[in-house]
Amino acid sequence: LRHIIIDTDPGQDDAMAILLALASPEEIEILGITAVAGNVPLALTQVNARKVCELAGKPDVKVYAGCDRPLDRTLVTAEHVHGKSGLDGPDLPDPVMPLQEAHAVDFIIDTLRAANSGTVTLCALGPLTNLALAFRKAPDIIPRVQEIVIMGGAYFEVGNVTPTAEFNIYVDPHAADIVFKSGIPLVVMPLDVTHKALVTAARNDAFRALGNPVGVAAAQMTDFFERYDREKYGSSGAPLHDPCVTAYLIAPELFTGRHINVEIETMSELTLGMTVADWWGVTGRAPNALFMGDLDADGFFALLTDRLARL
Ligand code: BDR
Ligand code: CA
Repeated sequence: LRHIIIDTDPGQDDAMAILLALASPEEIEILGITAVAGNVPLALTQVNARKVCELAGKPDVKVYAGCDRPLDRTLVTAEHVHGKSGLDGPDLPDPVMPLQEAHAVDFIIDTLRAANSGTVTLCALGPLTNLALAFRKAPDIIPRVQEIVIMGGAYFEVGNVTPTAEFNIYVDPHAADIVFKSGIPLVVMPLDVTHKALVTAARNDAFRALGNPVGVAAAQMTDFFERYDREKYGSSGAPLHDPCVTAYLIAPELFTGRHINVEIETMSELTLGMTVADWWGVTGRAPNALFMGDLDADGFFALLTDRLARL
């Protein structure tokens, strides 16, 4: 059983990642969900996180609001992908469950200090601002983190928000730099993997056919999310980026990758937020991340569909 904090900027794919975790209590215990600004501003991501918990019938999950902007840069959002609300597609009611009073960064710090060292995993589904600020504010928690599983970056797939940067890293490259230099064991799900987790029409039908409110909402979310990739890239299928993180916690055998050195570009305007991933081991720099390169897409969707049916 993994004890996790989910740091997130929902986002339809974040929502699917959270639903997968909520549906898997045998493998995952969620200590809290921390919202960050990213796909849409914080005022919406914290609401969306609570909507997703209520959709899953889990209103007791603790949701905290964190940073409303990156450490050093102006916030860049992605309404063009996720819609005005960040969670366009299904019509989910406004949440009734409360937002916790504590700041997400303090919750992360307090949780890591209170738990036995090496027993809390951080799951990062958005820009890394909350995590980096927690490490900056309380460096004593750094050696206490078991692992961070991150959706972010790219190697062969290069970028999705600029020619060379993936959205989560680009939005707060300085935060990403702190996290990648932290020395904490990192597992990274880059676009190279997540662009293989495509919701085809048949996979979407399988969500809808579950018949429960979660399955129907999942189908509506991926329908909406797909429209962007179809119109922009002519691809048929929404990439489920963030669920790769929570799927890894349940079934790591679905993924393959390499232990490599990954550094973040923070200086260049041209390549800001690029994950400089030493896939071929040419630099001699010490590995700091398990950087994934491939996934078993059929196995991934079988897992996701099976778990969503349980909610
Ligand atoms: C990442 O950016 C966001 O738009 C998604 O939620 C995902 O976390 C993909 O680049
Ligand atoms: Ca996200």
